[in-house]
Amino acid sequence: MHVNLIGALDASPTQRQIHIVMDGRDQTERLSADRAGIARAADLLAEGGLVAFPTETVYGLGGDATGGLSVARIFEAKGRPSFNPLIVHVPDLATAETLIDLGPPLRRLAETFWPGPLTLVAPIRAEAEIADLVTAGLPTLAVRVPLHPVAQALLTTVERPIAAPSANPSGRISPTTADHVLDGLSGRIAAVLDAGPCDVGLESTIIGAGEDRPVLLRPGGLALEEIEAVLGAELAARGADITAPGQLSSHYAPGATLRLNAAAPESGEAWLGFGSEPVLGTPCLDLSPSRDLTEAAANLFAYLRRLDDQSARIAVAPIPETGLGAAINDRLHRAAAPRS
Ligand code: TXA
Ligand code: MG
Repeated sequence: MHVNLIGALDASPTQRQIHIVMDGRDQTERLSADRAGIARAADLLAEGGLVAFPTETVYGLGGDATGGLSVARIFEAKGRPSFNPLIVHVPDLATAETLIDLGPPLRRLAETFWPGPLTLVAPIRAEAEIADLVTAGLPTLAVRVPLHPVAQALLTTVERPIAAPSANPSGRISPTTADHVLDGLSGRIAAVLDAGPCDVGLESTIIGAGEDRPVLLRPGGLALEEIEAVLGAELAARGADITAPGQLSSHYAPGATLRLNAAAPESGEAWLGFGSEPVLGTPCLDLSPSRDLTEAAANLFAYLRRLDDQSARIAVAPIPETGLGAAINDRLHRAAAPRS
């Protein structure tokens, strides 16, 4: 609900009260992903409002990356610890290079995989107009060029870099539909652009410049094998220090406890299978009946949510470590970690 505050000033005291309450963005607009919806979303972002938007990985919680206030609102809406730096979204490589110094290996990755589910972390340029809160004081900035046509249209319309973490309350499962976004953030953000479910379903793979060669900061929707094939070398493993706080243990937590690598559910457990037989009398979902890891990645967060609603304990079938399996297992281990 959007109410004109000027009009409210002419109203009687009682009416004024009502208008002021209604103006508090207590309702989140659901915008359709057409020209009018995208224009509305761009206007809200330009005014400093928060808009959740679809990317091919997960829905992002967008705010103007050049405005300290918008970025502060992102942290507020998510209830996120403020030391977590954010990913900035831009429409193309040329715009990215106005913000960060990529260097040859990361530029090769950008040329190969952008637009797509890859985030690159590199030194921020002195002239980049990015609010300090985005980098949380780090000398580097995380940048991504999303592939999703609605994200692309939004970024070219708004003509400014958009900071966007995944559009979920801090510590909860990332949203892959507009309904998931509203479940967690309704009333806390101005709008959500609804373009249906996300194709990849896992957050982007994050690669940093590293000291002597690129380093993996977070496994994600682009398989490591593909990245290493382009680099012609192995990625360095991330150090023990947490440079990407998305790596904090219980980050992707459902309410239920998870038991991983289970052969079958025990009594009282729901069953998240992978090409597995359903178990009678137990809530069951299969990440991919044909054991396709790309399909499993796309289903992962939505299925965790559905089983979380039905059971306090979830048993999960073993997932192979190859391709997107590495990122799926990373998210599952985090979801299964003891709550901090
Ligand atoms: O697919 C995605 O990456 C989604 C969509 C919306 O783009 N975004 C996403 O953002 O997953 P978020 O905030 O949930 O995760 C961003 C990760 C965090 O773990 C953060 O710590 C890391 O990126 N990060 C951001 N800037 C960084 C930096 N300068 N150095 C190291 N890690 C950084
Ligand atoms: Mg997240």
